[in-house]
Amino acid sequence: MGIGRGKLLLFGEHAAVYGHPALGLATADHTRVTASAVEPESSPMGVVRVGNTKLPLIIRGVEDAYINVLYTAVERTIETARISFRELEAFSAGLQLTIESTIPTASGFGSSAALCVALARELVASGRSGFTETWQIANEVERIFHGTPSGIDTGLSLSNGLQALYPGPPALPTRQPVSSGSFALVYGGVPRVGDTRSLVAHVRQGMEASRSETVAAVDALGAIARTALSVCVTDAPAAQLGSLCSEAQAHLRSLALSTDELEQRIETARRSGALGGKLSGAGGGGAWFAVYETPEAAREGFLHVRREIPASERSLLRVLAVSGSDVRTIE
Ligand code: PMV
Repeated sequence: MGIGRGKLLLFGEHAAVYGHPALGLATADHTRVTASAVEPESSPMGVVRVGNTKLPLIIRGVEDAYINVLYTAVERTIETARISFRELEAFSAGLQLTIESTIPTASGFGSSAALCVALARELVASGRSGFTETWQIANEVERIFHGTPSGIDTGLSLSNGLQALYPGPPALPTRQPVSSGSFALVYGGVPRVGDTRSLVAHVRQGMEASRSETVAAVDALGAIARTALSVCVTDAPAAQLGSLCSEAQAHLRSLALSTDELEQRIETARRSGALGGKLSGAGGGGAWFAVYETPEAAREGFLHVRREIPASERSLLRVLAVSGSDVRTIE
């Protein structure tokens, strides 16, 4: 069984595409891929190329809309990891991949990265690929979903605890565990209207045209991420992290990456005692989070926010306690 975890980006989204650092964590939600031999007379079945051979493949557990992209992802994993037919010999009559996930799709929680990590972990024989190789394979496959992923989502998916990521394209970012002072978070998600690829392209347009507002906002987001990295290792970082969230959110809004729903959820969180909040990931809807001083304050905030938001978003709401290298999901 291969597992990839979801992720929550705290600071540095979009700015990371231009070399600025990012801060984020892997969530408890995860995607699981299990390979097994197909049962006789299973159908319908597709095929994937493995070298010069074609391997029958059944994918279970995903919505029909995702099946084609999954066939491509499996084939790309096999190609990138140079998996030979011999390595898959046990499945020569047909490979069945069962996918189970608790990560909401297309919401900025890293569901595609988690899938790519889980696929790489399940298909590449254990022992053959270490952390970095698995990361490289997963990130290459993530191109199918995102075009030019920075490597942050797949890196977080493979990690534990709070992580700083320093991009160095075309190489993968450098990863550094962060031992943080104590703070707590409530995070949730709203329906997404934009997708990562077009939101990243929208910012790139402004950067390539040297639009002064875009350049200034991206630089400011990078500077905020750097400040957040130094603030979170202090003893009581919550208040400062909260204001950094509000500052970052203003810049993300100026880049047209926020939505009315995101603004409303952040405002609801503030009214519940949060010290600040922002969107997380590419924006256009999707993930958001808010910072609280203590796990108790966050739990109270969670109860308040849960009452105020649409019923369809309640199952996405979580509470995290962060302390040192420990990130605990407490709700
Ligand atoms: O896919 P999302 O919504 O988590 O966004 C990824 C973060 C970006 O900085 C927007 C893109 C990237 O590849 O770093």
